[in-house]
Amino acid sequence: MRVQILSENLLAFRDTEGRIGLVDEFCAHRGVSLWFGRNEENGLRCAFHGWKYDVTGQCREIPSEPPDSIVCGRVRLKNYPLIEKGNILWTYMGPPERQPPPPEWEFATVPNSHRFVSKRFQDCNWLQALEGGIDSSHVSFLHRGDLETDPIFKGAKGNRYNMGDLMPVFDVVESPGGLYIGARRNAEDGKYYWRITQWVMPAFTMIPPRGDHPVHGHFWIPIDDEHCWAWSFDYLADRPLSAEQVTAMKDGKGIHPKYIPGTFRPLANRDNDYLMDRAAQKAGRTYSGIEGFAIQDASLQESMGPIADRSKENLVGTDKGIVLARRRLMRASKALIEQGTAPPGVDPAHQRVRSASVVLSPDQPFATAVPEALAANPGVEHVSV
Ligand code: FES
Ligand SMILES: [Fe+2]
Repeated sequence: MRVQILSENLLAFRDTEGRIGLVDEFCAHRGVSLWFGRNEENGLRCAFHGWKYDVTGQCREIPSEPPDSIVCGRVRLKNYPLIEKGNILWTYMGPPERQPPPPEWEFATVPNSHRFVSKRFQDCNWLQALEGGIDSSHVSFLHRGDLETDPIFKGAKGNRYNMGDLMPVFDVVESPGGLYIGARRNAEDGKYYWRITQWVMPAFTMIPPRGDHPVHGHFWIPIDDEHCWAWSFDYLADRPLSAEQVTAMKDGKGIHPKYIPGTFRPLANRDNDYLMDRAAQKAGRTYSGIEGFAIQDASLQESMGPIADRSKENLVGTDKGIVLARRRLMRASKALIEQGTAPPGVDPAHQRVRSASVVLSPDQPFATAVPEALAANPGVEHVSV
């Protein structure tokens, strides 16, 4: 598989022994793509002149060279470590001496039966896509048509609070790995309904749960400056997903897309105006005329252009999470460049988090009132309304 990530062109393959590797896409001989190569015994052979590489990128054979040649031993493709966890292949692309331990995001640690993962190609910079993931005020508008019809969302008591109060108050508190972003809406008897989103630096967002539905979130992974992958997961900590839920997710419900068959590009995309349906928009079946949470989000995030021009924005109170996330990213980038400080989010302790939705009385601070709601808790259901 070709893998483009952080503007690097790489190739992932599994050899005949089942080992996995992530190496430079291009042959060290004269630069042809190894995607055309032959996956042979314990290695990938370039289709042009037959140079062969193993999963670490080490050249193993140059058929045209005499047996005593030392060229092959000296040739190694750039390569990165690759591990498999939670149906996902993870790589680390930094300096080897700083390689962190394997990731411990809760969704990746539950049994396979408890989890569903998808990814979709998105035509914009990763950061504006991520900003959509921490902006929970858009739910009452963009997604309002779907809250009570989508099988992965409907029926939750929290949906009523969402629709009943269109002026959420945002309160944002720094967490060890990023931010707790609290959106407060009015509930009954003077109480508050809180939706608490997790952002863990740099690219992880976790949407607050609804009722007993699976919990979901995203990783926003840069392909290059103008494209990203929206990796999307759903999981239940305490039980398997039902067959109906999995079928719905495969069919583009919840936060997952429908694909152009054989690709990770959504069926509804910018080339076909995301299959805009003005009649559905007018009738209120969907708020924007676009079908499904994933493509509703993608269409608007992509519509900002390949890299959104922040100098033209007019930010308001509900953008507090976005403002503080930008500041924290800037601060961590400077600390990394100037002092070599490892950024938040690398430490597995920062990854063991949960989002939550909860009703609290006005004197209870959202980020500390129910501490167990915001931490991973193996086998125990999420705190959710
Ligand atoms: S370019 Fe790959 S073997 Fe020659
Ligand atoms: Fe959204």
